[in-house]
Amino acid sequence: MRHRLSLPAGLTFALLLVAVAAVPVAASSFVTVPRVQTTSLPPACKIADTTAQFTSYADWSRTLVDWTLRVPTTYAPKDLVPISRAGISGGGSIRSFVIPDLAAMTRAARAAGAPIAVESAYRSYATQISTFNSWVSALGYPAAIIGSARPGHSEHQLGLAIDFKTPGGAAPWSFGGYDWATSKAGAWMMKNAWKYGFVLSYPKGKISQVCYGYEPWHYRYFGRATAAAIHGSGQAPRVWLWQQDHGGSAAVLTRTGGPGSVTVRP
Ligand code: DAL
Ligand code: ZN
Repeated sequence: MRHRLSLPAGLTFALLLVAVAAVPVAASSFVTVPRVQTTSLPPACKIADTTAQFTSYADWSRTLVDWTLRVPTTYAPKDLVPISRAGISGGGSIRSFVIPDLAAMTRAARAAGAPIAVESAYRSYATQISTFNSWVSALGYPAAIIGSARPGHSEHQLGLAIDFKTPGGAAPWSFGGYDWATSKAGAWMMKNAWKYGFVLSYPKGKISQVCYGYEPWHYRYFGRATAAAIHGSGQAPRVWLWQQDHGGSAAVLTRTGGPGSVTVRP
């Protein structure tokens, strides 16, 4: 038979205090960043044409495009360079400051036995017109609108988005129900891209938050610090960006020092 030891309430409390005081403080302490509106979400996805808040080329990491927000037809960064400069196969161009991290990511993926290539990178406003129209012709408008951005609304026009694929393979969306994230390259990207500044824009199961269906191949460049903050927040970029610009913070926990520490954008 089990015995139940009952102590007077005062003694129990005193013992508890001693026990708490005896717990050593962890070497890498965690700092809780004040939360403001952490549960706030961007507005529901609505097809409209509102000019985004940050559309200067210098504000690249804050520019939010979605079903509603867009950049001007003339938005075409002046510093686009061929993605081949990063030593990655495939065609297209990207903003020049992306190249060092894209090169490092390409090398790391190859070294891990999961080489990556580019299917599509920068797309001008004019190119996005034909891209979107071709999806409408192929699938009809209701399906096209959750898989392709209307012109002005694509992260590809920012010169920051890349659709990745497996080298030598077909477009990662051309295999019916196949999930590219289950391929070697796709799985490596899912786990590691953020370390090189790239974040998956349209994760699985988040269509109501990000407007588009799951795209395991579409990554947007944010730079390493911001990508780490977005990754650490667990939020999709659309939600994180919206919260940043509406007085909220998606980052709730910062580890001081060490690998994986999160730097929150000032
Ligand atoms: N497929 C994404 C939504 C784009 O067209 O930018
Ligand atoms: Zn894309």
